Amino acid sequence: MRALVLAGGSGTRLRPFSYSMPKQLIPIANTPVLVHVLRSIRELGVSEAGVVVGNRGPEIEAVLGDGSRFDLRITYIPQDAPLGLAHTVSIARDFLGDDDFVMYLGDNMLPDGVADIAGEFTMHRPDAQVVVHQVADPRSFGVAELGPDGEVLRLVEKPAEPRSDLALLGVYFFTPAIHRAVAAIKPSARGELEITDAVQWLLTSGADVRASRYDGYWKDTGRAEDVLECNSHFLGGLRGRVDGDVDPGSILLGQVVVEAGARVLRSRIEGPTIIGAGTVVEDSQVGPYTSIGRDCLVSGSRLERSIVLNQATVTGVHSLRDSLIGRGASVGTTGSGAGHCLVVGDHTRVEVAA
Ligand code: DAU
Repeated sequence: MRALVLAGGSGTRLRPFSYSMPKQLIPIANTPVLVHVLRSIRELGVSEAGVVVGNRGPEIEAVLGDGSRFDLRITYIPQDAPLGLAHTVSIARDFLGDDDFVMYLGDNMLPDGVADIAGEFTMHRPDAQVVVHQVADPRSFGVAELGPDGEVLRLVEKPAEPRSDLALLGVYFFTPAIHRAVAAIKPSARGELEITDAVQWLLTSGADVRASRYDGYWKDTGRAEDVLECNSHFLGGLRGRVDGDVDPGSILLGQVVVEAGARVLRSRIEGPTIIGAGTVVEDSQVGPYTSIGRDCLVSGSRLERSIVLNQATVTGVHSLRDSLIGRGASVGTTGSGAGHCLVVGDHTRVEVAA
């Protein structure tokens, strides 16, 4: 079985981050989402992965390389425009050949793994096997309607009035039968070739389409609040380790990782929290549920349940929480006490205390 990993798209829901980096490289517990995805694929025993990339391909290639770091061989498949999930299958036709494959959306996190479901697919080899998960509000997902014995009755992409609470999550198992379906469907109302429509096409033409339930943790990291929630979930499993320097005036509580070259001075760090390599934390309180990237400075500040990306600076800010701070960003105080002073980029969200 091969893997097709989708890392193109426009990432509009993750603006402003997606202006400067592909959304699939947003870090969860200081590791890019896409790296978590590739590890999950490797656990399925797959060794050949095609990674679909858009105009941010070079940044993705710089992080993933040829895949040898993950014991995978990666072939990059450029997509000129985000024309839909099914479109990626058609442009990957040469890479996929006549092999079965798992299609994995590069912004989906399933830390509990899908090895069991992959095993079911390999054993029964239906034409297509989708994975479903119960959600409170399925309107922003593909939705599956199942019959009393779990048989797939209908699949609809982002219905305004969903007829079930089962969302399609971003992992699909396909035999080459999907290629006929992809060639047959037309773009949806949003102008994309939808993989949901392709699987529905298979169903309508009498193919064997099955659905497996995944009951573990799942997050589509499409929006900032999802990224933060997912980060907290991952940090929940953190095991503490100190490779950097912690001065005697600092306290570490719970599971705290201090990476090599990081320095913690006169600070209190509450786990689960990661302090990235080369970062300095001084006179601050950090955590719980916080990850700070590489080469950051956190000084005289207090932050919790937050993600700080590489090379960002947070100084003199006493109550940051549930925040996502971009690469090289600087958050500080004016010192004058005369209100807030902000330089805010496009589509940025700032919430100051009332
Ligand atoms: O997360 C699960 C959902 O993913 C499913 O429930 C939906 O049925 C499915 O259509 C998809 O919906 P999204 O609207 O969340 O898909 P998104 O546009 O975010 O794209 C998913 C991934 O695929 C993301 O990593 C970007 C990449 N992509 C997307 C498009 C449209 C591409 O590589 N090329 C594309 O043309």
